[in-house]
Amino acid sequence: MHAYMISRDSHASAEPRDRAFYQNPYPFYSELHATAPVFFWENYGHWCFAGFKEVNALLRDKRFGRQILHLATREQLGLPEPKPHVAAFDQTEKYSLLNLEPPAHTRLRTLVNRAFVSRQVEQLRPRIERLANELIDGFEADGQVELIKAYAAPIPAIVIAEMIGLPAEMAMQLVNWSNRMVTMYMFGVTHQTELDANQASAEFMDYLNGVIAERRSQPKDDLLTHMITTEVDGQRLDDEEIMSTAILLLNAGHEATVHTTGNAVKSILESGIEPTRLFAGDQQTAATVEECLRYDAPLHMFTRYALADVELEGGVRFKFGETIGLMLGAANRDPLRFTNSNSFDPFRSDGGNVSFGAGIHFCIGAPLARIELQVALKVLFQRLPALRLAAAPQYRDAYHFHGLERLDVRF
Ligand code: HEM
Repeated sequence: MHAYMISRDSHASAEPRDRAFYQNPYPFYSELHATAPVFFWENYGHWCFAGFKEVNALLRDKRFGRQILHLATREQLGLPEPKPHVAAFDQTEKYSLLNLEPPAHTRLRTLVNRAFVSRQVEQLRPRIERLANELIDGFEADGQVELIKAYAAPIPAIVIAEMIGLPAEMAMQLVNWSNRMVTMYMFGVTHQTELDANQASAEFMDYLNGVIAERRSQPKDDLLTHMITTEVDGQRLDDEEIMSTAILLLNAGHEATVHTTGNAVKSILESGIEPTRLFAGDQQTAATVEECLRYDAPLHMFTRYALADVELEGGVRFKFGETIGLMLGAANRDPLRFTNSNSFDPFRSDGGNVSFGAGIHFCIGAPLARIELQVALKVLFQRLPALRLAAAPQYRDAYHFHGLERLDVRF
């Protein structure tokens, strides 16, 4: 039995918590491309877009945005009131770049952007190489390892912690807080999950409050100090803005990169392609990483609100405040954009992907993530040429965050 159904009137049902579905959503995507690239996803209750051209265009379309409460009240939009038992979580999100639109978005993004441009993050390459090698030194003699915990997670977590100005030893605690917080984006969140995510948010803020106070009295050469002391348009950020931005950077700074590393190792090992060919030279290494991002993206859907009544090409209409789903993972497999879209081919001439989004919310960490992935994958396959799967990898129960629960390998 299929894990999904698509009807003739472009209504689809696919349960995001159904194991068969989230283990492999790609057959659903293939059928959407063939029959209904614009469809109403019953389980979410909104229209979604699976085509590359449409997703790419809508991410850049200023008639849609991530924020809506700057234009209308909850009551007017029929949105539920905030829940008091997730107040700490909501607090961390209050000034998240990801939930803001201009001008508030521009102000915060400008402040942190400089630290993440290619020229700046390129300087981290030697540090990332050293880190990757040290981690492998730690398990090489064992002949086997669970790669997510031992390798995929620590690299981006330590790198972003150090950039912000937190000690590397805090990295796994940050991963723990972040993992508990992002469960809030799962479909069908339970009360218990909400309480735990809220608890993690409160602990995280408590810890950061201490560090922010420290930096105020003793500035350092790190991003946290930069956020505290730099003025934008003659204004400094207040504590709530610093807190939200630091938490967003720390969480976004590793979640998707960890998943991409795991998914990439799986894609490469399952392809049977000789790894030395994949990492022969910087250009091929970069192309391999892009194909890994395209073939098995870590983030599969982002939503937008219609900021006005909108009519799209083809006559599809949305009312002010309506939500749409942009399916990055599906867009990357669109046969109209990619030849043999369901094949993993790091040598393809029509490469590209929307895994980092597009438009004003385009991932600020993309240059950093690309370097981390290039280094982590290249070093791994060079150091452990006999790397192979020890068990069939299983994805975690979170449709949006498409990443592995475990990745057991031998070498
Ligand atoms: C493979 C790894 C990564 C992937 C696939 C990824 C993907 C994305 C995507 C799709 C968005 C846009 C969401 C939307 O349009 O609604 C985004 C935004 C963002 N990402 Fe990443 N990301 C990755 C790594 C990172 C890293 C390493 C950082 C480190 C700082 C980061 C920080 C951010 C931030 C701050 C935003 C919000 C930008 C804004 O709203 O202006 N990401 N990311």
